[in-house]
Amino acid sequence: MAVRSTGPKRWEHELSEASAYSAYSTIRIERAGDRIAWVYLNRPEKRNAMSPQLHMEMYHALDELEIDDEIDVVVIAGAEGNFSSGQDLKQFFRELEDKPDQRYLMEQRYCKWRWDRLSTFPKITIAMVDGWCVGGAFTHLVACDFAIAAEQARFSLSEVNWGIIPGGMVTKAVVEAMGYRDSLYYILTAEELDGARAAQVGLVNRAVPAAELRAEVERLATMLMRKNQHVLRASKQACRMVMRGMDNDQSLDYLGAKFTQLKALDPSNGYSTGLSSFVDGKTYKPVHDPYPRG
Ligand code: COA
Repeated sequence: MAVRSTGPKRWEHELSEASAYSAYSTIRIERAGDRIAWVYLNRPEKRNAMSPQLHMEMYHALDELEIDDEIDVVVIAGAEGNFSSGQDLKQFFRELEDKPDQRYLMEQRYCKWRWDRLSTFPKITIAMVDGWCVGGAFTHLVACDFAIAAEQARFSLSEVNWGIIPGGMVTKAVVEAMGYRDSLYYILTAEELDGARAAQVGLVNRAVPAAELRAEVERLATMLMRKNQHVLRASKQACRMVMRGMDNDQSLDYLGAKFTQLKALDPSNGYSTGLSSFVDGKTYKPVHDPYPRG
């Protein structure tokens, strides 16, 4: 008779592996106690290029942050003045070229933090962009819910200049953010965009002077944290779902179901609280503020 293992189950092992990842070598996480986690890609000497080790660490960091009750907002940035120079051309491209199995596993699993994990992440995510943002870095830039850039940030889809197309999810991400016309222009020309231009074409929400970048991200995070986190989570899921391939009838049906689901699952009963604060208590106006939370 087969003996059943009494050891940890696979998911338990994965989880403990994730929490063991507090000692990262290619990323740095700052928790300032204000419910914001500042996650820095931390290979400044390589302009924060994404190596296989960095992908693995980001994958586990998102696991950690997703279940961290003390965090509402995750900011993704780059250490020492550059967001990221994209995939590591040496460690990711060249060194995995003759290791197709390793590269396949890397792409199937750890690279997924940049799109599958981030774009469906339950908490609010903000990309804070200074310096260079190149190639593969557009994926996690667009996957974040918000992006705030320094005016002198430098964006480049460099791929055509060295003989490849923007692969992975890069092309999908930029078309989703900028639309067809501007995406095609910047993909084919590899022309650089600064922060202000990136804001014009919809790649980031806004550009601010570099000295104000962190404060602007904090302002946005703080404003969002005053709101009902369950409603924000449902709203961002709804935006992604209707954008990605639902027709009008499907959207109407889905949004109706989501509305009902939120009412049933929101432990703070935001719907009734908001309604009675306005209609009965006359204590606030929804266009100005979130309802006062107990
Ligand atoms: N992969 C691997 N290494 C990279 C890298 C990348 N994507 N981007 C920069 N580096 C390395 C450089 O090789 C250099 O390493 P070294 O000190 O061992 O020689 C170091 O980072 C500094 O780069 P450098 O080019 O000297 O810095 P810079 O500030 O003058 O220029 C960039 C910055 C980002 C404009 C330039 O490095 C660049 O064009 N990088 C390639 C970006 C790219 O095309 N990425 C697409 C990947 S999908």
